[in-house]
Amino acid sequence: MCGIIGYIGYRIALPILLEGLRDQEYRGYDSAGIATWEDGKIDLIRSKGKIADLEKKIGDKKSNATLGIGHTRWATHGRPDDTNAHPHLDCKKELAVVHNGVIENYLELRSDLTAKGHVFTSQTDTEVLPHLIEEYYDQGGDLLNAVYHATEDVDGYYAMAVLSAKDPNRLICARLDNPLIIGIGDGEYFLASDMAALVEYTHQMLILENGDIADITPQGVTVYNKGQKVERKISVIDWDKASAQKGGYEHFMLKEIHEQPWALTQTLNGRISDDGQEIIFKEFDATIKDRLAKIDNIFLVACGTAYHAGLVGRHAIEKLLHLPTQTEVASEFQNRDAIITPRTLAIIISQSGETYDTILAMRKCQQMGAFTLAICNVLDSTIAREADAVLYTYAGPEIAVASTKAYTTQLAVLYMLTFYLGKLMGKISDAELKELIAALAQMPQLAEETISELESKIFQISLGFAPWNDAFFVGRGIDSAVAMEGALKLKEISYIHAEAYAAGELKHGTIALITPDVPVIALCTQSELISKMISNIKELQARKAAVIGVTTRGNQEVEAVCKDTLYIPQTNELLAPILANLPLQMLAYYAAVVKETDVDQPRNLAKSVTVG
Ligand code: F6R
Repeated sequence: MCGIIGYIGYRIALPILLEGLRDQEYRGYDSAGIATWEDGKIDLIRSKGKIADLEKKIGDKKSNATLGIGHTRWATHGRPDDTNAHPHLDCKKELAVVHNGVIENYLELRSDLTAKGHVFTSQTDTEVLPHLIEEYYDQGGDLLNAVYHATEDVDGYYAMAVLSAKDPNRLICARLDNPLIIGIGDGEYFLASDMAALVEYTHQMLILENGDIADITPQGVTVYNKGQKVERKISVIDWDKASAQKGGYEHFMLKEIHEQPWALTQTLNGRISDDGQEIIFKEFDATIKDRLAKIDNIFLVACGTAYHAGLVGRHAIEKLLHLPTQTEVASEFQNRDAIITPRTLAIIISQSGETYDTILAMRKCQQMGAFTLAICNVLDSTIAREADAVLYTYAGPEIAVASTKAYTTQLAVLYMLTFYLGKLMGKISDAELKELIAALAQMPQLAEETISELESKIFQISLGFAPWNDAFFVGRGIDSAVAMEGALKLKEISYIHAEAYAAGELKHGTIALITPDVPVIALCTQSELISKMISNIKELQARKAAVIGVTTRGNQEVEAVCKDTLYIPQTNELLAPILANLPLQMLAYYAAVVKETDVDQPRNLAKSVTVG
């Protein structure tokens, strides 16, 4: 979703701003723009389309500006075109503002400002910001104060950066429920929505907190909250620009699929005791352990792929902990009267840690007294910071819009958490725990094996798959959760309409859609459910569907009823989703490649969904 970039220092700003926008392209956008300060004037360039279109507009224009802001916009209010693109200016063209988020009371503010003589040129909610800041700036002449007063008038959520023609060495920024990070350099500062745009220049990050307003000059950064000066810690991140680049792969998604064995290793690292007998979470102190030991019901709350990880997590928790457990879509959870008590554990799953609906759902759980535990991939993101405790997935930056390694590592953390709680609550025997932990520890190696053994076969299958407009994914038990993720992956990047069904549901309606040769992916990893799955596959076969089975090595009876069969290595069946998901990711990837869609930035989608 929209991306902000900013620079203040001694270097020429324009190339830094453009590179920073490129580094955030993956977030999803449909127009882009840049404003720089030079010789007391603001120079504004905006364009519909890609950064390449913006660059065309810039042409060989020379700029010596050392202060500037830029933006990639994902349209919410007003169509994607040059005039709705950010930055937006005030009436005098002396203030430039870029903004992520939504100003909910913009219509009211716009009409007040229009009555005061302000002239609007776009359809955006954002444009009220420069005009509002202009009002206050004209009254007091101080940019910081003007931004502060403007934020007080605004309802909604935002990350914003502001520069003024009259303040040559100053960049003001503010955040509320939208990420904004200041990269600390030596005599220079960088601003971005995502660290990926900053790692080229610095590893020291000041992550703004809700309600923060930062005053940045080449001499330093001062942060205020509710009008008071506050200290914010500097986080040092340990990955570099190469981690956020394609590294020879054709797409980020393919690179990230291949990174999964490594991501699993990173995530498991240091969390399994040397004797393999227990899970160690250094993140949990005695108070947290005490609280967790008393939990009597669990909610897993998330969106999209993270929600699908939560569905797998529910199966594992119910099987091993025997606790009432529900997995909820965050956007709907807000509309539910869910039964939450101080003995509820709310597991909040989010790769980015910035998904707006997930943040709201987490806050609702907190208000109702639940203990909130985040599973998150982005250091110090909003969810990671606001949750009562956090377990990070160490998947590294995930750039492709379609989540792969984040999902797989979310599963790994959910399994570890289940094993941990099982021991804490005395619900799993030592012998069973040891066996489960040993199986989990093998996952990086088995994931590697699965990917390398199946990739070329999957490419071949995808050739016959791509012409189809529809596909179905079916499974039973924990496999039905994997089927849902498989269908999401396929539809979001290949645009093939894909649906997932609990296999037993097929004959209750969906089987009417089965026509000769339509692809159906049947997940069969759970031995006690295989005979039922085979019956379902036979029903599909009778309607001439092209069934592709995903099963564990040794299950020849599945191969006997399928057109194609993809074998995953043998493992403890509870953990099979980690491996069964891998061929589905590759199938989606290659179907999209064959269809020549934009794999890493599929249409209409954004990486981090920071609006509700
Ligand atoms: C799909 C995908 C999305 C995200 C969802 C939640 O491939 O990536 O469905 O899983 O938008 O995002 P996070 O995990 O950042 O909260």
